[in-house]
Amino acid sequence: MNMKNMNKKVLEFYKGGPSVKQVPETKIKLTEIKDLIHQGYQLLGELREDVNAPVVKAKFLNQAIIAIYGEEAARIFYDAKNFTREGAMPKPVLKTLFGEDGVQTLEGKEHHHRKHYFMDLMSPERMDDYHILLDKNLTEALDKQDGEFELFDLSNQVLFNTICEWSGIHVERYDSETLEKLARNQISMISSAITSPTDHLKGITDRKHSEKWAKDLIKEAREHPDPGKENHALYVFANATDLDGKLLPVDVAAVELLNIIRPTVALTVWMTLMGHALFAQKSIYEELKADFDNLQDPFIQEMRRYYPFFPMLPANAVRDVEIDGYKIPKDSWVVLDVYGTNHDERTIDSPDAFDMKRYIGKTKDISYEEQYEMIAQGGGKFREMHRCAGEWITLHSMRVFADQLVNKYEFTVPEQDWTIPMDQFPTYPNSKALLIKDTSCIQA
Ligand code: HEM
Repeated sequence: MNMKNMNKKVLEFYKGGPSVKQVPETKIKLTEIKDLIHQGYQLLGELREDVNAPVVKAKFLNQAIIAIYGEEAARIFYDAKNFTREGAMPKPVLKTLFGEDGVQTLEGKEHHHRKHYFMDLMSPERMDDYHILLDKNLTEALDKQDGEFELFDLSNQVLFNTICEWSGIHVERYDSETLEKLARNQISMISSAITSPTDHLKGITDRKHSEKWAKDLIKEAREHPDPGKENHALYVFANATDLDGKLLPVDVAAVELLNIIRPTVALTVWMTLMGHALFAQKSIYEELKADFDNLQDPFIQEMRRYYPFFPMLPANAVRDVEIDGYKIPKDSWVVLDVYGTNHDERTIDSPDAFDMKRYIGKTKDISYEEQYEMIAQGGGKFREMHRCAGEWITLHSMRVFADQLVNKYEFTVPEQDWTIPMDQFPTYPNSKALLIKDTSCIQA
């Protein structure tokens, strides 16, 4: 190879090679936006289909966005050399769902430092504490049921009370009306992130109330430490510092405390979807009950993959990046399609079928190792990347619910609307999983 050719090769490599293509753009007319929004979780897949390519660019209200999906794309997305989260999250989402200046918005050393506080809370001993507490609280709540109830409502309150208690908050101080309101507020912060302007404003108000409540708790925890509870979330965030060793401002500590409480209460949605998996038709219930010990965790992983929850994750490209043979220019605003990745035919066999057996023998790799194939709660490494800090709390919660719904109680399933609308965030069956506990069948 002569020098001239070699220089050309180097240059081509640097540019991503001669075959790297420009991301195809799909033109969206203003009149089509409403229809597209109704595609909900399937929207990005529709856009890919429009251009017949795995990477697609679209413009919504003058903002260009590039959508990527799949295991390989996720691996590249999580590499901090390629993408940053800084400035990528839309303001409406920060104002409701995440709150400002929380761990989700940090990068580099600051992110690692803050993320350790979260991951240190998730020790095996504390996970056992959580499991035992939730098991007790769910039993108490189900024992009390008499007549028809919504699995959604019941999960909402049980999860809220449990995560507060686990975090070191004295729930017994509050009357039931206050507890109900606080529990509902956690869901409203989530559902108002992507919704109508009226619901969004309600979400902002509900976040303000929740933050005020959490700030008061942090202040009190700073003034009156509770010996023995140093490793509980309330006291961990009350005493958390920044990289210079200064205590976090009260409002930031409150946002982080809510970053434990709100997403745990969000599990209400998965528990309602579990109602769908088990009771909308009988086959999954029967398959699971017949071999519960072996299928419990594969069932949970398949639930996390199959049902839609977190739709997409945004980031900004910090350099030119190549994905699936397409060049994503530096500074592009990019979203990783979470739902699309979990339903990617290139890596998942028959992705539209619910098949819990696909995860037999693989459950530990999915939820305890670095991974990018099934990213319902994000992917990558827990401590160094933005992967969800609550994946293990999620697993414990789903184990407790699955066990009680399948093994401990029996239910009659009243007539109801099991439809799961794809254009609602977060989504769950329209009737919120109605059940009637069979009092004659409770096991000791
Ligand atoms: C309802 C089930 C849940 C879902 C679907 C979910 C999903 C996610 C997703 C998609 C992310 C973003 C990943 C990324 O940016 O790369 C995330 C981040 C996060 N989640 Fe969850 N999550 C759930 C439950 C939980 C629970 C139970 C907790 C806490 C106990 C939690 C705490 C967090 C935190 C703190 C982050 C930010 C991590 C960071 O930026 O480093 N999540 N979650």
